[in-house]
Amino acid sequence: IPTDDEIDAILMPHKGREGPLLPMLHGLQAEYGHIPAPAISRIAHIMNMTRAEVHGVVSFYHDFREKPAGRHVVKICCAEACQSVGGDVMVEETLAKLGLDWHATTPNGALTVEPVYCLGLCACGPAAMVDGKVVGRLDAPRLERILTEAGA
Ligand code: FES
Repeated sequence: IPTDDEIDAILMPHKGREGPLLPMLHGLQAEYGHIPAPAISRIAHIMNMTRAEVHGVVSFYHDFREKPAGRHVVKICCAEACQSVGGDVMVEETLAKLGLDWHATTPNGALTVEPVYCLGLCACGPAAMVDGKVVGRLDAPRLERILTEAGA
């Protein structure tokens, strides 16, 4: 767990900027891979916000995680174009089959599954991003293989 000083070292350079909150959160996530719980209080203090307000911003943006991710992160596109080619049903069925939940990390710490809203691969949907690499034209067997290989 990072100390207040370590957190402040990330937050303070942004303090005087216009719209400092998102750069602060991006800085924390880049450093820790998620937004550590104590940082919520530090931001609230520095920005003169309530903790609930800071928490609201963190949970509004899908990019921010409140817990560390697994060793592999699979982001699956849930935006319009991918949904319209059957991604919605196929993805939900595959996740259910493997016992995976959105935003959750498997108990072995191997895999986190997150929704993402368009990967710029709409013409080749359903699309996903596997540890930063985009993959298109997913179907159930392919998605299942990706998730299983990542540790599901
Ligand atoms: Fe899925 Fe654009 S809608 S990649």
